Amino acid sequence: MSIDVDLEAPVTAEQPTLLPDWLLRPLLRARTLDAILRRRARDIVAKAAMDRHLPADGLCLDVGAGFGHVAEEVLARAPQRRCVAIDPVWRPTDRLARRLDRVAAGRWQFLTADGMRLPFADGSFEAVWMAFVLHHVPYDSQWRLLAEIGRVLKPHGVFMLLEDTPATADEWAVVERADRRLNVETHDQAHCYRSPAEWRPVLAHCGFVVQEEIAFSRVFPRASLAPVPHRAFVCRKLPTA
Ligand SMILES: C[S@@+](CC[C@H](N)C(=O)[O-])C[C@H]1O[C@@H](n2cnc3c(N)ncnc32)[C@H](O)[C@@H]1O
Repeated sequence: MSIDVDLEAPVTAEQPTLLPDWLLRPLLRARTLDAILRRRARDIVAKAAMDRHLPADGLCLDVGAGFGHVAEEVLARAPQRRCVAIDPVWRPTDRLARRLDRVAAGRWQFLTADGMRLPFADGSFEAVWMAFVLHHVPYDSQWRLLAEIGRVLKPHGVFMLLEDTPATADEWAVVERADRRLNVETHDQAHCYRSPAEWRPVLAHCGFVVQEEIAFSRVFPRASLAPVPHRAFVCRKLPTA
């Protein structure tokens, strides 16, 4: 399927961040992992009130979509909504692609692309979201990704940033433990978390006005029984003068 979006030069895949492909592919063929990721996506979309904040009939972009379970849930909730999802490493499994074709035929497109160089013209999207991506990106590169999102978003467009947001050393330990366990990461994998208070000036500097903050948490019994603190920042792009 294709969505009418102004595409620029294609981008090659790079920057594997989580499980190596040889380990993940067999896991992904398992129904259980798909079911877990689907349940997680439903929980996140509901707790972050994504459906309420994203336009019901606009063109959205999911940056760092992973396999696309969050996009699946966002599309399933509004029959006129369209979504382009990009990820530099992962793409939907065949099972998920078949489901997307059923629930969102003609309304979704998946591209291999890097958020640092989004292959879209300025102002292509009514809304953009990015869920649990930036803490995998070095601090000094996070700005670049946010600037790219600002570029492809229409003036006054909605941007939802969902992140792990530890605010204390104890919360940091809980979040990192969950990340390492869930993503089966090596111990040298860096995590570039920021607290809510640290995110606000970063978002403002990148031209976003934070209109609402939704604090939510999830418990990951296999990783941590302490709630892992998350936050959704609901932003609008300031029109440039
Ligand atoms: C924890 S996963 C989150 C996936 C999905 N957003 C979700 O919540 O289910 C982090 C994702 O960020 C992606 N990622 C890492 N660096 C990226 C970049 N520079 N541009 C776009 N995505 C990136 C990874 O490939 C990975 O799929």
